[in-house]
Amino acid sequence: MKSILFVDDEVSAREELERTLRPMSEEWEVVYASSGREALAKLTKNSFDMAVVDMDMPGMSGAQLLTEIKTRHPQAIRILMADRCDQSLMRRSVVSAHQYLPKPFKLDLFKTMVTRAATLRERLASESLRQLADGIDSLPSLPALYRELQEELQSREPSIDKVARIISKDMGMVTKILQVINSHFFGLLTPVSNPAQAVSMLGLDRVKALVLSMQVFAQFKEYRHPFISLDVLWRHGLVIGAYARAIAKEEKTSQDLVDDAFTAGLLHDVGILVLATNLPDQYTQAVALMQNRRVTEWEAECEVLGASHADIGGYLLGTWGLSDAIVEAVAFHHDPMRSVSQPFSPLAAVHVANALEEREQAAVMGGGYTHIDEDYLAACGLGSRLPIWQSVCQEVARSRNSL
Ligand SMILES: [Fe+2]
Ligand SMILES: [Fe+2]
Repeated sequence: MKSILFVDDEVSAREELERTLRPMSEEWEVVYASSGREALAKLTKNSFDMAVVDMDMPGMSGAQLLTEIKTRHPQAIRILMADRCDQSLMRRSVVSAHQYLPKPFKLDLFKTMVTRAATLRERLASESLRQLADGIDSLPSLPALYRELQEELQSREPSIDKVARIISKDMGMVTKILQVINSHFFGLLTPVSNPAQAVSMLGLDRVKALVLSMQVFAQFKEYRHPFISLDVLWRHGLVIGAYARAIAKEEKTSQDLVDDAFTAGLLHDVGILVLATNLPDQYTQAVALMQNRRVTEWEAECEVLGASHADIGGYLLGTWGLSDAIVEAVAFHHDPMRSVSQPFSPLAAVHVANALEEREQAAVMGGGYTHIDEDYLAACGLGSRLPIWQSVCQEVARSRNSL
């Protein structure tokens, strides 16, 4: 039985919630609080699996409360509720939430959200993954520069100049970012020559995602592996990020999901770096298995290491506090059926983007590849979208040679 703490100051909203949630009383134990203070008092007496907090409350705001909960009860799943029109603002200003729930409250949507969150956490808490993660001495950390960018974004009025100044602290990275952005791949008509211009032309979120993945990859500078090059993996991430973003845009989903699809695409294979760097002998065995038996890399990894690069990548991004949508897309990118079927998600985009790209690569170089899970797409009601997604990716692919 899951325990859920709901925090909302509005009496009528709370009564409505109680009515809506009554049919779930055998599955969920629900406790209500009408202020941040009352919620924190309840949290000291009991532990909860999940806290669902209204954004707009007098006294302690929903954002402040979630930040408190994050520090005091890091294991609790944190969900922020707000009117649909406030959602973008909410995501921009609150980085302590795992998921965002639009108001008015809809039971079906909430049920999917709870199942999704539980499925993801079950996967990330599996015994074999935990053992694997315990055997890794140094997992990469969330880059400090990215944290600074997040802080600037949380400020009341994030300024492009300040963001550009933060990025400029790492000139090596700036040079590389400008190089990437100026490739035809990003489709900019005029060349970009400085970080401020990059932010205003590409948008803060895309630049932020590029900074994140570039800095994560920089933590593996010393990485040498006979089978996979850092540069190839980085370009592969860029391609999947661009494909997944284009798919999300095609679906006319929210800007947040478009940005999450891009970030998840950039980082979807970061687990390969973690495994190959920290456990080189076992990783070499997995690669040999993949080549001899023509299985995919993630199947070979599961056999040799007990978990795959997708698992460890999702685990890592989860520890950094990135949103569930990103973590889920990374953790399940090879086997989306293990997640919950849902309308469009970054997971569907990254899974399809990666499978299309792997198939393309396999046609040129041979080897196994991940098949598109059409059953999953059908279960999400997205089956008919596949041909359109394919042509959207082909469109993006036309400029990839300039990468
Ligand atoms: Fe992968
Ligand atoms: Fe991949």
